[in-house]
Amino acid sequence: MEKDFNNTNAEAFRAIYEACEEGIIAVDKSGRIKMANTAAHVIFGYDKNELPKYGVEDLIPESLKKNHVHDRTKFHANPTPRRMGAGRELLGVKKDGELFPVEISLNVATLNGDSHVIAYIIDISERKKIEAALKKSEEQLILYASQLEKRVKERTEELVYANKALETQIAVTKKAEQEALVALEKERELNELKSRFVSMASHEFRTPLSTILSSASLISKYNDSDNHDKRIKHVNKIKSSIGNLNSILNDFLSLAKLEEGKTDLVKTKFNLIEIIEETIGEMEGVLKKGQKINFSFIDKKLTMNTDKRIVTNILINLISNATKYSAEGKPIDIFLAVENANVQLEIKDYGMGIPASEQKHLFERFFRAKNAINIQGTGLGLNIVKKYVDMLNGHITFESEVSKGTTFKVILPI
Ligand SMILES: Nc1ncnc2c1ncn2[C@@H]1O[C@H](COP(=O)(O)OP(=O)(O)OP(=O)(O)O)[C@@H](O)[C@H]1O
Ligand SMILES: [Mg+2]
Repeated sequence: MEKDFNNTNAEAFRAIYEACEEGIIAVDKSGRIKMANTAAHVIFGYDKNELPKYGVEDLIPESLKKNHVHDRTKFHANPTPRRMGAGRELLGVKKDGELFPVEISLNVATLNGDSHVIAYIIDISERKKIEAALKKSEEQLILYASQLEKRVKERTEELVYANKALETQIAVTKKAEQEALVALEKERELNELKSRFVSMASHEFRTPLSTILSSASLISKYNDSDNHDKRIKHVNKIKSSIGNLNSILNDFLSLAKLEEGKTDLVKTKFNLIEIIEETIGEMEGVLKKGQKINFSFIDKKLTMNTDKRIVTNILINLISNATKYSAEGKPIDIFLAVENANVQLEIKDYGMGIPASEQKHLFERFFRAKNAINIQGTGLGLNIVKKYVDMLNGHITFESEVSKGTTFKVILPI
């Protein structure tokens, strides 16, 4: 049969009281320790059964004793179970004077007819040590983390900096490479141009040179005065052939200069009407039989501020094409108009025209249309004209129909 523990005798309660790991102390109204279990003795470092010779204030740090007497009296007047020292750290004093952290709860009990305060005491030294160690390692951790963060930040900054330097370096190298490439490409083009020119020139030079040769040998045969007219005719042939050679060389020199970027703009103020009329005058020598250049403009003066030499060259090229690619007796019309801050020049011929399918190549270097193959030319003129017009920030267009004629339109800023 099971024992009834409700009737357990005093010895059993004492056994439980002694077995308790918390220190238990009973204190009377005057502050004397009346009872203390084994754990209380161990915690405060007293010998067995020694504590009842002491007062409760002997377990309290010197500086708090006075207040404690006051608090104790207050607690006796209004005894309610509570924890001691809420919100602050409690310290106990061992017999040898060593201070140590404690946790204490208070209660009251009547013992032998008198009210006593019962204190339950736990030594929390170990817990505090662990807490402190934890706190320290936490602080250490925070320190490490912040150091790490700082290093990461520094490294990132270094990297960003290095990266920027690298990027700059790459950009510089790239630019240099590109420039070298452009220069190389330019040189290659120039070389190609030169070699094409040499082969083209040796072909193109042959006709005027053989004309010069045959005319010269004929002149040497016409030595009497009867043949004066014949001599003049051949001298003129020689002159015009030399003119041809000269214009081929001029074309080439202009192009080479343009390609090498050696053509500088020289701006001057000049009267465009005068320039056109002068150029027409010079071109009269190369016109075919019956060809006539018509040009009229209401005003006698139109001042431009740009490169006169380039404007003249554009005119010469376009007029020489107009005469070259149209038949004897066909006129050439030049129209001039002013619009806003631009002049618009039209050079119109009634010649062979340019086949529609070939028109898109017109400004390409060395381009010559199929229907012009038997007429002397290098295919450089319009390529140069286009470059000149671009240099002057102008614009060139054309309209052409085979067997009807061609009109070039050049717009140039005044
Ligand atoms: N007014 C024109 N009428 C018909 N065809 C033309 C006219 N102008 C140019 N072309 C065509 O365009 C080609 C290129 O003209 P471009 O002036 O560049 O060279 P080119 O006259 O052949 O030689 P050059 O270098 O002596 O001027 C000509 O060969 C010709 O086929
Ligand atoms: Mg030409």
